[in-house]
Amino acid sequence: MSNRHSATIAARAGIAQDPAYGAVTPPMYLTSTYELKGFRQPGAYDYSRSNNPTRDLLADALCELEGGAKAIVTNTGMSACVLALQLLSPADTLVIPHDCYGGSYRLFTNLAARKQAFKLVIVNFQLPDWQEQVKAAAPKLIWLETPSNPLLQITDVRAVCDLAKTLQSLVLVDNTFLSPILQNPIALGADLVLHSTTKYLNGHSDIVGGALICRDLAIGNDLKWWANCLGLTAGAFDSHLTLRGIRTLLPRMKAHQENAALVVEFLQQQSLVSKVYYPGLVDHPGHAIAKAQQHGFGGMVSFDLATDESLLAVFFDALRCFTLAQSLGGIESLICHPGSMTHASMDAAAQKAAGLGPTLIRLSVGIEDPRDLLADLAQAFAAVEAVVGKSAPRKPAGSAVESTAKATDQQFRINPALAAFW
Ligand SMILES: Cc1ncc(COP(=O)(O)O)c(C=O)c1O
Repeated sequence: MSNRHSATIAARAGIAQDPAYGAVTPPMYLTSTYELKGFRQPGAYDYSRSNNPTRDLLADALCELEGGAKAIVTNTGMSACVLALQLLSPADTLVIPHDCYGGSYRLFTNLAARKQAFKLVIVNFQLPDWQEQVKAAAPKLIWLETPSNPLLQITDVRAVCDLAKTLQSLVLVDNTFLSPILQNPIALGADLVLHSTTKYLNGHSDIVGGALICRDLAIGNDLKWWANCLGLTAGAFDSHLTLRGIRTLLPRMKAHQENAALVVEFLQQQSLVSKVYYPGLVDHPGHAIAKAQQHGFGGMVSFDLATDESLLAVFFDALRCFTLAQSLGGIESLICHPGSMTHASMDAAAQKAAGLGPTLIRLSVGIEDPRDLLADLAQAFAAVEAVVGKSAPRKPAGSAVESTAKATDQQFRINPALAAFW
């Protein structure tokens, strides 16, 4: 376990570690293969699918940020999912939450149904009987995504890990939505942490990548073997860009989160918004748990447009600062319609079961000037009002957003290292 603070680990990711020339910023090793020292005398590296110095620097940084024993850097977030699933055999059971990223859901359901790769049990961790559901499933692996994509539902990681220990189950947390700056699942008891590094870790929407960080070295070594065997590892160029992105992770997360809180407040005042989903809202169902286990509420916000689906296009077309696109976690603000985009791989019944309504909109709030973001949303709501033809009755004021300052005071007890930076 590292004794360096998160901001330092992030800012110094890969810095001043060049054994060849002492380069402060790490060089990028664009090589597929490595010369042997002599016949039957391999060096530290032999082939870049197995190991690459640039990728290793990234793995070391991620491992230290998440407090793990081993990290494996993969070529997409989905390949990190595929890698984690190598822990399972056909007789084993995987428990997944009823609401998670659509691509993960597609992978789990198709591998279980079409390949019989494992038995699959879907649990709604928001229901009071989730513990009974998990016990009955007797899983080898419990998969969590908290906050979940796209409804930002919160699962109590520590409570799940406590139960998992009694069942000899492993727990994996997909930490993509918060990044290691805002949540550290291993410190809460998890065995594995997954990231789509495509998102906040890289932060500039110019690569796709993933990572799996393991608490246990033996599990990490086994999964590293599988990553090489299956060809899931990331290339040097993407690793280099991700390493560069990580160095600004903390200030980016601060800016995302500050802007998100302002956007939430603004959305709550809109008559055309019927519901706002954000863990920082005091009436969000998982608010208390989020406060206890996260170091902040993050930059993702979802809301329901209080119109019928036909007006979604009017809203999206009017936007200038929010870009209609898949993905999240980049410095630029993105907007998406999960039902037809990120979660299109879930059928209508699964979307309904996950609580994903037809007019649900997800925002990845960027780091632009918040005045421009609010003005953009305001003119898009005005465009919809113009079509609706009349102002819908104003809703009563929504519940308060817990301020970042208040929330982080509380979080410092979990991660005192962050106190100096918020
Ligand atoms: C929570 C979550 N996990 C995993 C993934 C998959 O990552 P990738 O798109 O990098 O393969 C995504 C992608 O959006 C995601 O949102």
